Amino acid sequence: MPAKVVVGLQWGDEGKGRVIDYLAEEADIVIRYQGGANAGHTVWVEDERYIFHLVPSGILHPKLICLMGGGMVVDLEALLEEIDSLTTKGIEVEGRLFLSPRAHLVLPQHKDAEGSWEKRIGTTLKGIGPAYAQKYARLGVRVGDILEDGLEERLSFAGENFQGLTEKLRMVGGRIKPYLKDVEPFLNQALKEGKSLLFEGAQGTLLDIDQGTYPFVTSSHPTAGGACLGTGVGPTKINEVIGVAKAYTTRVGRGPFPTELKDDLGELLQRGGGEYGATTGRPRRCGWLDLVALKYACEVNGVDKVALTKLDVLDRASEIKFCVAYLYQGERIEGFPLNLDHCEPVYERLPGWERPTKGIREFGQLPPQAKVYLDRISSYIGVEISWVFTGPGREDVIEVG
Ligand code: GDP
Ligand code: IMO
Ligand code: MG
Repeated sequence: MPAKVVVGLQWGDEGKGRVIDYLAEEADIVIRYQGGANAGHTVWVEDERYIFHLVPSGILHPKLICLMGGGMVVDLEALLEEIDSLTTKGIEVEGRLFLSPRAHLVLPQHKDAEGSWEKRIGTTLKGIGPAYAQKYARLGVRVGDILEDGLEERLSFAGENFQGLTEKLRMVGGRIKPYLKDVEPFLNQALKEGKSLLFEGAQGTLLDIDQGTYPFVTSSHPTAGGACLGTGVGPTKINEVIGVAKAYTTRVGRGPFPTELKDDLGELLQRGGGEYGATTGRPRRCGWLDLVALKYACEVNGVDKVALTKLDVLDRASEIKFCVAYLYQGERIEGFPLNLDHCEPVYERLPGWERPTKGIREFGQLPPQAKVYLDRISSYIGVEISWVFTGPGREDVIEVG
C-alpha cells in the first residue's frame, strides 16, 4: 500500500490532525517530517480532546507506529511532557513512538532569542526559527548528539553555556533513549515490506520557507517535498498527496491576508469555528476562502485529492464569497504573486444554505447551495474534493463518491 503525504494548503490549522486521525485507520506508520512544538493538531474522540504538538496525530490508533523524522526540531522536555500526558490518558506510547537522532534540538537559548522574531512575525515562541537558523549555520546540536562524546564541544559551538546544560541534557537523554530509532532505514525497509505510510505535515503551504508568504512564514518545509527531505524517503516512493483546506481561511500571527474579514462576519467565523490557536491560544484571523492561493498550494504540492474541513462553520452565512483573482496595482491577476501585501481580492458570490450541515455524513444530504460551492472550488483548483468534514467529531465526514 502506498505512501501518502497529508499537507496543509493554507496558513496552518486546516484540520490536518483530524484528517490524519481519520486516514490513519488504514496506515501502519504515521510520520511527522518537519517543524516542532509550534504545531497544534486537534483530534476529538467523543468528549475527549487531544492536542498534539510533537507526537504524530496517529498515536490514538493502538496498532500504529508513530515516527518523528530528522527534519524536525525537538524540545525534548516538551516531548516528554506530551508523552506523560498521553500516558496519563491511557494511551500507550512506549514501543510505538520513535524519534530520529538526526532531529535537531530546540535549546533554551533558542526560546530566549525569539523575542524579536515574535514581534516581527508573530511566531509561537517555541524556539523554531532560532533552532533552524542554527541548524543551517551548521552549529546545531542533534538529538543523537546528547548520547555521544563531544556534547560539550557541540554545545559551545552552538553558543550555549554548557555547564549545567550538559548534565541536564544527559539526564533527559536517558529518558529519551528508548524512543530513538534510525527513522530512514526503518521507513525504507517498511516500504519494501509493503507497509502503508502516512506523512503528517505541520503548519501549511503558505507558511513554507520557500513557497510561503515570506518572511511571514515558519522556518521549515511543510510542503509535500518536505516529507522526503525530513525522513530520508525518496520522492519516487510517494504515491499520493492529500491537501487539507478549510472551507474558509484563517491565519495566526502577522503577514498579508487578502480575504481577511475585520468585521462581524470575521468574528462570526472565529466564534463559530472556535478559531483560537491550539498552541498559543491566540485568536485566529478569519476570512473568505482564497481560491487563488488554494490553487497555487495544490500546484506546489502536486495535490491529488483535497480534504475540505469545517463546511459546517459556514452554515449561518446568507451569502458565501470566495476570491478568484487579485487586483494588483490596478491589474487583475490570477497567479500567486511574490508579495500578497497589496493584493485586493476579487470575489465571486454564491447564496448560502442557511441550514445545518453539521454532522452530515452523506453527500446527497448536503444542501444544493453547498454542493454548488464545493463544485466551484474543485473546478477552480482543478483537483477533486474527496472528503468533506462537517464537524470536529470522528464520524463527521462525507466520503465524496
Ligand atoms: P491542524 O493544526 O491543521 O491539525 O488544525 P487545528 O487542530 O489547529 O485546528 C482545527 C480546529 O478545527 C480544531 O479545533 C478541530 O477540532 C476543528 N475542526 C476540524 N475539522 C472540523 C470540521 O469539519 N468542523 C468543525 N466545526 N470543526 C472542525
Ligand atoms: P499547525 O501545525 C498555524 C505561524 C505562527 C507565525 C509563523 C511563524 O497547528 O497548523 P514559528 O513559531 O513557526 O516560527 O511561527 O507561523 N504558525 C502556525 N500557524 N498553525 C501552525 O501549526 C503554526 N505554526 C506556526 O503563528 O505566524
Ligand atoms: Mg493547529
